Amino acid sequence: MNESLTIAMDGPAGSGKSSVARRIAEKIGYLFLNSGAMYRAVTLLADRSKIPCTDITNLIELAHDCQIDFTDNGKITLLNGEDVSHLLHTPEIDKAVVEIAKIPEVRRAMVKQQRRIGKDGGIVVEGRDVTTVVFPDAEVKFYIDASVQERAKRRFLELQDKEVVCTVEQIEQEIKTRDETDASRAHSPLRPADDAIIVDTTDKSLNQVVDFIIEQIDAHT
Ligand code: CDP
Repeated sequence: MNESLTIAMDGPAGSGKSSVARRIAEKIGYLFLNSGAMYRAVTLLADRSKIPCTDITNLIELAHDCQIDFTDNGKITLLNGEDVSHLLHTPEIDKAVVEIAKIPEVRRAMVKQQRRIGKDGGIVVEGRDVTTVVFPDAEVKFYIDASVQERAKRRFLELQDKEVVCTVEQIEQEIKTRDETDASRAHSPLRPADDAIIVDTTDKSLNQVVDFIIEQIDAHT
């Protein structure tokens, strides 16, 4: 495997792209970058600093001033040096993150950090705009999708594991709303890149998706 490729994946909530990207990075010995964790970390910081989603000026300052890093090959998210990984997937953050991710200058700050991390290639990166905006020259691009019912079911099972009380209907509504906001925003909306390989994971296991993607990467190299 060429050691300096950039492999980029976008897709909606619950499509499985984090699990797929992480597994692929492990298999081929690449760095894994979850760009969504960055937007979630800024959202956490805003919440802690009591800055509302409407206070654009202070949110921009916050995004520019914070340092987000990853250790343990992407498993751990460090916000100004603190491990915040276990605090990023709450219903409050799910709701607020889309509002903060709409702000162009916040995005610019995050994109800068993402490009810094990915500057030497050898990376599997996933998010909403990594194939279209952050790494438009990535050698291999994927758009990972699944039906909304399947995505809600997956997210529901993950949350049950964490003992979060919710219904599958609530989750389906939450991800529909978040997808609509992500896909309709003016800056860097979620959309498949023209040269992305579309992968529908609805009826596929994680292993099947990983095997398919590895085949595609091999075919491109
Ligand atoms: O894991 P899940 O797909 O639910 O979400 P995520 O990848 O952690 O992303 C959370 C939110 O951050 C998304 O709904 C987007 O609003 C935002 N995001 C973004 O705008 N651009 C990215 N490259 C990644 C995430």
